[in-house]
Amino acid sequence: MEKIKVGTNAFLYPMPVTLVGATIEGRPNFMPVGWIARVNLTPPLIAMGLNKRHHTPSGIQESQTFSVNIPSRDLIELTDYCGLVSGREVDKSALFEIFYGELKTAPMIKKCALCMECRLFQTVALPSHHLFLGEIVGAYTEERYLTDGKPDIRKMDPLLLTMPDNNYWAVGEHAGKAWSLGNRLKSKKG
Ligand SMILES: Cc1cc2nc3c(=O)[nH]c(=O)nc-3n(C[C@H](O)[C@H](O)[C@H](O)COP(=O)(O)O)c2cc1C
Repeated sequence: MEKIKVGTNAFLYPMPVTLVGATIEGRPNFMPVGWIARVNLTPPLIAMGLNKRHHTPSGIQESQTFSVNIPSRDLIELTDYCGLVSGREVDKSALFEIFYGELKTAPMIKKCALCMECRLFQTVALPSHHLFLGEIVGAYTEERYLTDGKPDIRKMDPLLLTMPDNNYWAVGEHAGKAWSLGNRLKSKKG
């Protein structure tokens, strides 16, 4: 099949849907973030791209901390709402029941399946976005989201995002075991 060039506005499939929290002038604020990934083992670092025009980046710079929260499917409407309005115009602080961990300025969302509190590690100024690198200093979940002590994607039921068609998706079927399925070929090919 011939390849069709689809321009340069390309994305990864799928992207996670997270709610990033920060305290701005004493008030918690949350925005959905899809451009986010784990990028270092030790220390455990998360990287994310936040448009400089948004309100949340000023809170991250102010407090040097932020949170990353993974909403389940039941929070889809509230999550999307947070992406339609800015904390600069609308007070989003009372939308969620929040809690704090070790860092007292990284507001985490009680109703989210997995919450991480992060200390700002490094900021890279890109043309339109800040690339924020944050060190995870604590992660919080509930027993009901775990299987054998590990977060279980089926139980967490996180949202997935595709762009540029801008759609939310749910997790599909299990396809196989990672760091394992390739072993048959490894033993054949070396
Ligand atoms: C599903 C979803 C994912 C988003 N991902 C990002 C992202 O990765 N980076 C970004 O800068 N904005 C992203 N946005 C846009 C912001 O979340 C949105 O503009 C938000 O209202 C900013 O809020 P704030 O001004 O209170 O910080 C996303 C929006 C949605 C709905």
